[in-house]
Amino acid sequence: MNIILLGPPGAGKGTQAKILEGIYNIPQISTGDMLRAAVKNGTELGRQAKSFMDAGQLVPDSLVIALAEERMSAPDAAGGFMLDGFPRTQAQALALDDMLDRLGKKIDVVLNFEVPRPALIERMSGRRTCQQCGVGYHVKFAPSREADKCDKCRGELYQREDDKETTVAKRLQVYDESTKPLIDYYARKELHQVINGDESPDKVTAQIRKIVDAA
Ligand code: AP5
Ligand code: MG
Repeated sequence: MNIILLGPPGAGKGTQAKILEGIYNIPQISTGDMLRAAVKNGTELGRQAKSFMDAGQLVPDSLVIALAEERMSAPDAAGGFMLDGFPRTQAQALALDDMLDRLGKKIDVVLNFEVPRPALIERMSGRRTCQQCGVGYHVKFAPSREADKCDKCRGELYQREDDKETTVAKRLQVYDESTKPLIDYYARKELHQVINGDESPDKVTAQIRKIVDAA
């Protein structure tokens, strides 16, 4: 099963991908997580991507497409994968179609997370992530037991640089301009399914399971 998780920043794509990994035993492929790891590790890719990410802009297509292709070709993705945050532009969607042809694969379903804008902003501003193990929290909706400490590994929790208020506004604008048009692209391919992301994580997972199990 090859799935695309589509939706605005803060919609819950990453949260659901982590839950679904355990249910369907297919990996989450998050270009955002991979880019943040590259920045953290100080690689050449990270150096090139950092200024775009900090400004809430998209990293150039050529860099992201190469990154996604390499990850999709890894052995653990042979039995299926969930693309989280890719594709994000028309050029990336076309490159993905090419890649899938070459790998002899296809997308089975595109899950489009719909969440009202005020909720997106509240989710992003309260998001915290463990520095050490990467587990995600939210100060209001999914708080850690002890403030700023990870429940699993006791690592420090941090706020993503691009979750600051002005950058969030920019990311939402970039989503509207560059990524939202992909909804039509996948609707024309009859792959598009709407997920009401404005429910509790459990209820969102239940909606997804219903669709994925039928696909
Ligand atoms: P990326 O990391 O992909 O960020 P994004 O798409 O902006 O999405 P987010 O990770 O912010 O949100 P999410 O939907 O995963 O929400 P989450 O589950 O965490 O991209 C970051 C940057 O990298 C981009 O701006 C760009 O620069 C670059 N980049 C990445 N991919 C690229 C590409 N393909 N092309 C070019 N550039 C690229 O949830 C958010 C919060 O809400 C959490 O705190 C969570 O606990 C909480 N929450 C989740 N679900 C619920 C719920 N149901 N109810 C209440 N709270 C909830
Ligand atoms: Mg995410």
